[in-house]
Amino acid sequence: MTTILAIESSCDETACAIVRNGNEILSNVVSSQINVHTLYGGVVPEVASRIHVENISAVICEALKESGLTMEDIDAIAYTQCPGLIGSLHVGVMAAKTVAFAFHKPLVPVHHITGHIFANAFVTELKFPLMALVVSGGHTELVWMADDYRFEVIGTTADDAIGEAYDKVARVLDLGYPGGPAIDKLAKEGKADPLYKLPTPKTDEPYNFSFSGLKTAVLQLNDRLKRNGVEVVPADLAWCFQETALQSLTDKTVSAVREKKPKMLVLAGGVAANSRLREMIREKMEAVPECELVIPPLKYCTDNAAMIGASGYVAYLHKLFGSFEDAADPSLEMPGEY
Ligand code: KG4
Ligand code: ZN
Repeated sequence: MTTILAIESSCDETACAIVRNGNEILSNVVSSQINVHTLYGGVVPEVASRIHVENISAVICEALKESGLTMEDIDAIAYTQCPGLIGSLHVGVMAAKTVAFAFHKPLVPVHHITGHIFANAFVTELKFPLMALVVSGGHTELVWMADDYRFEVIGTTADDAIGEAYDKVARVLDLGYPGGPAIDKLAKEGKADPLYKLPTPKTDEPYNFSFSGLKTAVLQLNDRLKRNGVEVVPADLAWCFQETALQSLTDKTVSAVREKKPKMLVLAGGVAANSRLREMIREKMEAVPECELVIPPLKYCTDNAAMIGASGYVAYLHKLFGSFEDAADPSLEMPGEY
């Protein structure tokens, strides 16, 4: 039995979880800063770091208390080392080192994206080779896992991450921050409109994505209509943007599944919470029944520490321990060969 205390602070959630054997969540505390950042229309890095400092001790104590365990029961401290906002990451790294030093526990540094992928371990046992579609505010990637802790990026975005495109389009439509959930909700009331025809994203590489051209097309279309005195229907524009973005994302993903033949396709990251993406990928994957599709529960799609505990558990089994010399480093890659 292995029990991991995991800490996540890479962006605007201060989080700590206690996870047993990689898939049993004993506690999962997330303190969101969203109310504060909403006032500024996006995450303000300096403010995020300060709030992490204010909250992290209480969040760790709460997670331990909720689990009903003491530090004696903990085998290792996992923490998000990268990627993310450097100041925010530092707070989590220092908290993890402090707890590890005080209680003589090994440290397990975790790459945030591996955490998003391992959120699927809370649904079912992962099967390899596995392909993950990682869709978040900072990433849009197809990740190939030949086995349980080797990650190879086989496709990525040529420009913007899909979550970034959602957030920017939402800003233009005055939907506030974060934009993804707002567009998800609004698009349900929207419909196709020939006036809002948008370009299908194109890339040179078959597994790569692109969302910057689409985002710009939405912004220009919105400006043009307004200039011409045409009233924009936000729900319809949101619908057209979302359909175009998600058709491209899911078509490319399903093609990659057909060619690479993984045993499992998993969704990962904040945008995996999107209801239309979940529906569309389910529909398209029905045509590829030999590959199992796994979609994480909504609460494990956005940033949390339980997923860091799930990834940290497998890293722990592979003895991928860190040291007190390690620092937050947003540029580190996911483990490949080791
Ligand atoms: O994974 P995450 O919580 O943080 C990062 O690691 O980036 O993802 C945040 C992103 C934001 O861009 C947010 O707008 C998007 O996920 N998001 C959504 C939905 N919920 C969150 N995008 C579309 N539909 C949603 N329901
Ligand atoms: Zn994330």
